[in-house]
Amino acid sequence: MAKTNNQPFLTDVQELRSRARSSIEKGAVTPAYQGDVEQTIDILQSVLATEIVCVLRYTMNAIAATGLSSESVKEEFDQHAKEEQGHMRAVAERINQLGGSPNFNPEGLASRSASQYVEGANLVEMIKENLVAERIACEHYRELIRYFGDKDPTTRVMMEGILTNEEEHANDMHDLLVAHEGKPMLKTHA
Ligand SMILES: [Fe+2]
Ligand SMILES: [Fe+2]
Repeated sequence: MAKTNNQPFLTDVQELRSRARSSIEKGAVTPAYQGDVEQTIDILQSVLATEIVCVLRYTMNAIAATGLSSESVKEEFDQHAKEEQGHMRAVAERINQLGGSPNFNPEGLASRSASQYVEGANLVEMIKENLVAERIACEHYRELIRYFGDKDPTTRVMMEGILTNEEEHANDMHDLLVAHEGKPMLKTHA
């Protein structure tokens, strides 16, 4: 960096500006970014697919839930659908920030997702399928948080926020299952 004695500060600012200008096309990815951007985008595409599948499943469940005391369950499904949509949006925005194009293509969606799309034949089955999907998401996201570590704190912090919410979802589904079936499906829950 070329500094002149009388204007060191100005030179620094100019240097910073020129570096920023040269990397404008790289968006939020500055030279200090420690992660592998392509890898991060790939990972986030699979998280995005997982979240889209969650939005679809909870929305379908909220509409299809019938039977005794289904109203409170419908409300819960609706609430989760909204929150999954928030996760979907945040992940898509992050992919965009990193210079990627969020993949919303319905083709191949299920295979990109970490959790499956299972409708569930009745209320209890729906709750069980959601609990399974939430547990898979929690496990997957915990792994990703460890992966991002200090390499990409922004993505890590976003995933931590989502994980907290997924753990609440798993808990909600567990409580609903106990309320409707009188027993938990699994001995421990996420
Ligand atoms: Fe989610
Ligand atoms: Fe969830």
